[in-house]
Amino acid sequence: MKAREICDNVYLIGHVDWDRRLFDALIPLPHGTSYNAYFVRGSNKNALIDTVDPAKWATLAGQLDELPAPDYLIIHHVEQDHSGSTPMLLERFPELTIVCNAKAKAMLLDHLAIDDERFQVVADGETLSLGDKTLTFVFTPWVHWPETMSTWLPEDKILFSCDFFGSHLATSDLFADRHEVYDGAKRYYAEIMMPFGPQVLKNIDKVTQYPIKYIGPSHGPVYDDPQFIIDAYRDWAGGEPQNIVCLPFVSMHESTRLMVDHLTVALADRGVTVERFDLTTVDAGELASSLVHAGTIVLGTPTVLTGPHPLAANAAFLANALRPRTRFATVIGSYGWAGRTVESIQQLMDRLKVEFLEPVMVKGLPRTADFEALDRLADTIAEKHRDLAQRRFADSLVCRPVVG
Ligand SMILES: Cc1cc2nc3c(=O)[nH]c(=O)nc-3n(C[C@H](O)[C@H](O)[C@H](O)COP(=O)(O)O)c2cc1C
Ligand SMILES: [Fe+2]
Ligand SMILES: [Fe+2]
Repeated sequence: MKAREICDNVYLIGHVDWDRRLFDALIPLPHGTSYNAYFVRGSNKNALIDTVDPAKWATLAGQLDELPAPDYLIIHHVEQDHSGSTPMLLERFPELTIVCNAKAKAMLLDHLAIDDERFQVVADGETLSLGDKTLTFVFTPWVHWPETMSTWLPEDKILFSCDFFGSHLATSDLFADRHEVYDGAKRYYAEIMMPFGPQVLKNIDKVTQYPIKYIGPSHGPVYDDPQFIIDAYRDWAGGEPQNIVCLPFVSMHESTRLMVDHLTVALADRGVTVERFDLTTVDAGELASSLVHAGTIVLGTPTVLTGPHPLAANAAFLANALRPRTRFATVIGSYGWAGRTVESIQQLMDRLKVEFLEPVMVKGLPRTADFEALDRLADTIAEKHRDLAQRRFADSLVCRPVVG
């Protein structure tokens, strides 16, 4: 795709990766992704903001054939999907200066073989004039890595936010359709930003001190309705858990599945929303998204070689790493003779600030007394969730009328 003008002399460039299906060797990409770079043409100087995944350098190189030579390369974030084409750019433009913060410089020296002479290190809030356009650097640590920063362009009220507000969505549209982008942006938040919820809220407050008409993230479409994604981020990072049970499970011979089936109905009968995931086929992004608002996690697993099934252990490990704001957790499942499944899951979830509810572990096939225990668990969850809000549908955000 050619350079696309967002506003006067500010262009979206980079690569739309329609076919990529896995990111960071971990994150499924059902809708592909993009690596966005931006080009700002000033009356005196030109700046390129971020680069592309090195595998897609040819796209960026072709786009730069049509643009004047950049004087500055602003590097917001050292992860290679944005900084990876820097060595090729430095070779192609011998006068190009890298502008980044001190942490990013140290990390770039670690990750890419770059000559120390090519850097101009900037401080938080510092500005760089391109003539009739000014770049203001705003440090936004932990969205995604500690060095991550954003750039605000006051003349056009654009925030270039890097991974912050991004979405893994390949689209031919320049600007985001809120209905199309919502799920992908939420998944992206859940997978990448959720572990840093408090820092996300601080960074929202920091960047919204500036008037913003557009947000240009480094993945997915540009927002020309920035309030929509800012409100969504406040909800995801700061909203209270809701009346939702996230129920990931695995079952080898159906005993645990019978328990999961029973609990699903028992919870639904008590007005609790159940988001249920078979771990043999789960999309980790959907599971992560569910954790954003789940009041309770119930993990269903048989006992395998004295502990949880490896797929359940992986789900517990992932939930622990993502640090959702979930309040309650427990384990249900079937075993044959003995094991330490519950203790292992509790250890794997040790960073979650949750109250562990009484687990329901059943020897072999579940019987009447076991289903009654599951009913009691459903009673307990419904009671614990009494003060939590009902699940709020994405549409309540997505369909909010545009103000102003
Ligand atoms: C590979 C394998 C390893 C197992 N290891 C244990 C174990 O260490 N301790 C135990 O109590 N049961 C063990 N079991 C028995 C299962 O936990 C038991 O059959 C349970 O009912 C399976 O639940 P499911 O039908 O939901 O798969 C094992 C079963 C399999 C297939
Ligand atoms: Fe990143
Ligand atoms: Fe990224």
